[in-house]
Amino acid sequence: MVATLCSSPVGAPLSGAVRLPGDKSVSHRSLMFGAIADGTTRIQGLLEGEDCLATRDAMHAMGVNIERHEAGAYSVHGVGMHGLNAPSSPIDLGNSGTAMRLLCGLLAAQPFPSALVGDASLSTRPMRRITEPLGLMGARVTTVDGHAPLSVSASEALHGLHYDMPIASAQLKSALLIAGLYASEPIRLAEPGPSRDHTERMLQAMGVDIEYGNGRVLMRPPERLLAIDIEVPADLSSAAFFLVAGTVVPGSALTLPGVGLNPTRDGVLSVLARMGATISPSAHRECGAEPVADLRVGASTLQARSFGPDVVPLAIDEFPVLFIAAALADGCTSFTGLEELRHKESDRIGVMTTAMRSLGVQLEEGEDWVRITGGAIHGGRIDSHGDHRVAMAFAVAGTMAKAPIIIENADKIATSFPNFVDLANSCGMDLRPHYD
Ligand code: S3P
Repeated sequence: MVATLCSSPVGAPLSGAVRLPGDKSVSHRSLMFGAIADGTTRIQGLLEGEDCLATRDAMHAMGVNIERHEAGAYSVHGVGMHGLNAPSSPIDLGNSGTAMRLLCGLLAAQPFPSALVGDASLSTRPMRRITEPLGLMGARVTTVDGHAPLSVSASEALHGLHYDMPIASAQLKSALLIAGLYASEPIRLAEPGPSRDHTERMLQAMGVDIEYGNGRVLMRPPERLLAIDIEVPADLSSAAFFLVAGTVVPGSALTLPGVGLNPTRDGVLSVLARMGATISPSAHRECGAEPVADLRVGASTLQARSFGPDVVPLAIDEFPVLFIAAALADGCTSFTGLEELRHKESDRIGVMTTAMRSLGVQLEEGEDWVRITGGAIHGGRIDSHGDHRVAMAFAVAGTMAKAPIIIENADKIATSFPNFVDLANSCGMDLRPHYD
């Protein structure tokens, strides 16, 4: 993936079928849970982005044999819940917060010590949110001032946990549930809002006694996980870039087959629908434990609306591109309750508002809110700060800008969407490497 990308305005509608890569959250969990299951988990459609490959390499480093048959098709030969080996060196999780937080839960329950490291961005992201409640279960994980590198001590036994989570975070919830697989008593969690429930769905499909819904989870520790076949849906978070592009470029019509529509993830659809987008799902079906449909998006004029905190966990990764949608809508759109955006791969409020303002977008922001007045987006040069979703959001902005947008530090697009540039160009966008 090139470091600097240029997105130019398009003169014609976008069209075609966009075959999106597999869901990142489901891919991480398929590899981790398959690794500690009894038997062989067969995966189709695994996302081969850098983040999920870091999880694959981590499981390899602990002695799990993971075979690649063809693109996205893998067999994970599970070693059972107690079959992991101590890694011989610190496990490097690159840019991936999901890999680090979920694996921390898994390693906190192992009878060997380990260390987890990440890149500069991951090393600034908050980790006490997981290490403190893991500590209540009897785990010992030390941070450097609340950040990676993490040192995980060998565990003798973990207790159960009743925990009121202070934030709606699937990474926190999943870290605790994964550690809880090894606990001597049940785990009960309450969340302040619904976060994505892929962990609960997959563990249940693997035979775990787990009840969930309405912001509550109760899991009784299992004796074992049973290997299953997993078909990974296309990633709705990757679809979001095409849903916005297909809406804002006049005359466009795109189809996106097999997209995961988990109701704890689909806030982007309700936000865009309220703004007037026309996105039609069809051919609803179940793909493994996840609901899936084909999406069709056609061009529409977007109208400004106000969105409160309730939609935030449901669309947590989609705000960069939703900010671009707001910048192209009629009127003034506001989003509140956005505090968690400050703790993603970059400070997504700071990075997005700085870059949008430099392209002439009228906006105001506070600690946890943004108000964006729709109008023209000018051409220019922005820094995505190595945040994949910020880079892709500005690629979408470039299609409708008055002149090309040059996007610096765009190489991290490869963490979640390695073929983004090719797919975007195949439906009519104009993205090219930029060399100074
Ligand atoms: C994820 C959870 C989300 C999301 C991330 C993937 C997951 O984080 O931002 O990209 O797979 O569990 P939080 O729920 O912790 O906000």
